Amino acid sequence: MSRPLHDLRISVTDRCNFRCVYCMPKDVFDKDYQFLPQTSLLSFEEITRMARIFIDHGVEKIRLTGGEPLLRKHLEKLIEMLSKLQTRSGRNLDLTLTTNGSLLAKKAQSLKDAGLRRVTVSLDALTESTFRTMNDVDFPVSDVLHGIDVAHAVGLGPIKVNMVVKRGMNDQEILPMARHFKGSPAILRFIEYMDVGASNGWKMDEVMPSAEVIARIAGAFPLHEIAPNYGGETAGRWRYADGSGEVGVISSVTKAFCQDCSRARLSTEGKLYTCLFATGGHDLRALMRDGRSDAEISAVIGQIWGARTDRYSELRTANTSGLQRSANKVEMSYIGG
Ligand code: GTP
Ligand code: 5AD
Ligand code: SF4
Ligand code: SF4
Repeated sequence: MSRPLHDLRISVTDRCNFRCVYCMPKDVFDKDYQFLPQTSLLSFEEITRMARIFIDHGVEKIRLTGGEPLLRKHLEKLIEMLSKLQTRSGRNLDLTLTTNGSLLAKKAQSLKDAGLRRVTVSLDALTESTFRTMNDVDFPVSDVLHGIDVAHAVGLGPIKVNMVVKRGMNDQEILPMARHFKGSPAILRFIEYMDVGASNGWKMDEVMPSAEVIARIAGAFPLHEIAPNYGGETAGRWRYADGSGEVGVISSVTKAFCQDCSRARLSTEGKLYTCLFATGGHDLRALMRDGRSDAEISAVIGQIWGARTDRYSELRTANTSGLQRSANKVEMSYIGG
């Protein structure tokens, strides 16, 4: 039985203004790095067409990713087009994006006006020097925090904040981050550092297992585990015993969630990837530019999804040291996280 197709993650650009050490290390993504040319990118019409076809397969949530999605020119136009789509069950599409927050203060209002429903913001530290070391472009913490506040003020909540934990680099930020967002409208989620792509030099001993993150927070603020919002949710949820909100942990390394994985990924140039750790995609742009009909493309998608056997994280969890890690895995900035 194939897993339902619930989420579509669409990467709208492979470029980013940050060089996070775990995602786009500067020595690889330098001035000579060949990003995709403009003509390779799916147009907004092509993206919307794909979205419609995926919705026919049951997609209820679309997340725009990148790279940094807010760098894509006229993104509001795309959001406007996507926000008009209705899901198969007649509900409003859950339309969201994951951003590094650098342009959020400037764009939150126009994104909201265009029909975006909520945002997830990445933030790895509150200590200025640690954050700047991690984004590697000297970007200040205060601008991201301001972006979160503005997004909240214009109604782009509930906002989720993602913190990738890299042991020895920002694990001392776990408690300050928890303290900062406790009692605020934002939901903080701690992500285990993953071996995505082939350039971040991932090592298991730099992963801090979520169980350790939770133990650290619970030492200061008692926590209770709570049920997921929906089947296949990436995050495990924990509520503060004193009623001041919740935190989440995304444990793709120590507790894989492939079993219910309902996420398809459409890359910036229109390839369909059925796993974050895939080495190859299926070229849907070629089908569109070859003049194939919606029905033909839909049938191809159905076939690919039905035949899917991906469970990379489960295999890695079962064998963290021995799993043959391919050197060809696509980069997170290209496939969109
Ligand atoms: P919501 O449930 O809507 O909050 O979103 P999400 O958790 O699906 O998306 P988000 O972009 O916030 O992703 C959080 C983290 O989980 C990122 O590091 C993603 O790369 C990771 N992630 C999301 N989906 C998958 C997945 O299918 N497999 C793995 N291994 N990691 C994933
Ligand atoms: N491991 C875990 N999370 C990562 N992200 C980017 N690269 C990695 C990695 N190697 C996160 C970003 C963002 C989300 C989409 O993925 O910080 O929050
Ligand atoms: Fe850019 Fe996000 Fe990757 Fe950081 S994690 S380099 S902000 S795409
Ligand atoms: Fe889905 Fe692949 Fe992530 Fe497993 S590793 S949850 S199959 S994207």
